[in-house]
Amino acid sequence: MKYVIETKDLTKRYGKFTAVNSLNMKIPNKTIFGMLGPNGAGKTTTIKMLTCLAQPTEGTAKVYGFDVIKEPNKVRDVLGMVPQHVSLYKDLTVLENSELCADFYGVPEDVKFDRINDLMELVDIKYAQDKKIGQLSGGQKQKASLVASLVHRPEILFLDEPTIGLDPTTKRILWELIQDLNDSGHTIILCSHDMHEVDMLCDNVGIINTGNLVAYDTPQGLKDTLLKEEKDEHDKIVHIALSQTHEDKEISKEDISSFKNQDEFLKFRKMSFLVDNLSENLTNKIKTISYVYDLKIGKQGRIELKIDKFNDEAITEVIKTVVEDGGIISSISTEEPSLEDVFIKVTSEAKDSARA
Ligand SMILES: Nc1ncnc2c1ncn2[C@@H]1O[C@H](COP(=O)(O)OP(=O)(O)OP(=O)(O)O)[C@@H](O)[C@H]1O
Ligand SMILES: [Mg+2]
Repeated sequence: MKYVIETKDLTKRYGKFTAVNSLNMKIPNKTIFGMLGPNGAGKTTTIKMLTCLAQPTEGTAKVYGFDVIKEPNKVRDVLGMVPQHVSLYKDLTVLENSELCADFYGVPEDVKFDRINDLMELVDIKYAQDKKIGQLSGGQKQKASLVASLVHRPEILFLDEPTIGLDPTTKRILWELIQDLNDSGHTIILCSHDMHEVDMLCDNVGIINTGNLVAYDTPQGLKDTLLKEEKDEHDKIVHIALSQTHEDKEISKEDISSFKNQDEFLKFRKMSFLVDNLSENLTNKIKTISYVYDLKIGKQGRIELKIDKFNDEAITEVIKTVVEDGGIISSISTEEPSLEDVFIKVTSEAKDSARA
């Protein structure tokens, strides 16, 4: 199966209010999918429809090949869910809640306790197995919720903001667990406001805004698109400014390049690399490159500098200079847009177009 989730014009309205608007989205099998979006965007509502907790107003979705409207029981069998607000029975213990879930899904008696035991050990909650849910901390509740959701070995696991309020160590344990689950073949759908979490874990990311899917790509793809868009926008601004001074004359690539060097158009991007055999001669050569600003030399041959952000030749020129001089680069990095930058750009653009 190529896609474990396929939505078709999936829509949810509450009265006249549209919470999810004709969503068309595919999630590939055995991947980790990140669902991002501002508060109230429609993420939880989408998850509720995909997990048969809410009926779509229009459209439909297939989960593991089963239709959420026509075959809800089959859908429920293949999924596990850790909801945004833990929904276990407060007066029952961790163990009792897990047992209840196992019985609900018909987990055979002879494997039930071993499975619960293994899962409790995996997420490190066994020590609290006889405590009532109402007596647990936020993180302990999340772990208990995870055990209950995994006890029937679901193909697809939905996690709605699973690490919110967790301490950094517990967060990491959960991240490793999500990764392990995915490695062992589970598809994970993760809703989160933690950009680092999504960037690190997810194969694909969908950004939902006011009920619409406004971006879908790999985390790197989203960042690369933003970088390209920023560059195109900047080129456009430079081109307009240049055409005002050039009047009817043809504008060449060189014209744009030199025009970009003017202070008002200059935007910087940090670049850093480590050259094992850095010499004074090479340092001086780098300093003379016209796209290079604020060069600093650190210990062990670390070079930090700023380059002209929107000039295509800048990075190439710096690397070429080092390599042609026989410099050996053992580490290199450039400042890239973050997933948070993408989120802000994409969701504010959608807001602007909705107001227009
Ligand atoms: N039962 C309901 N009745 C009426 N409106 C609802 C209901 N459930 C959700 N909504 C509305 O639908 C919109 C989407 O809500 P949803 O919970 O899906 O957002 P979300 O993306 O999960 O947000 P958050 O990041 O805050 O969890 C919101 O405007 C919310 O007020
Ligand atoms: Mg939500």
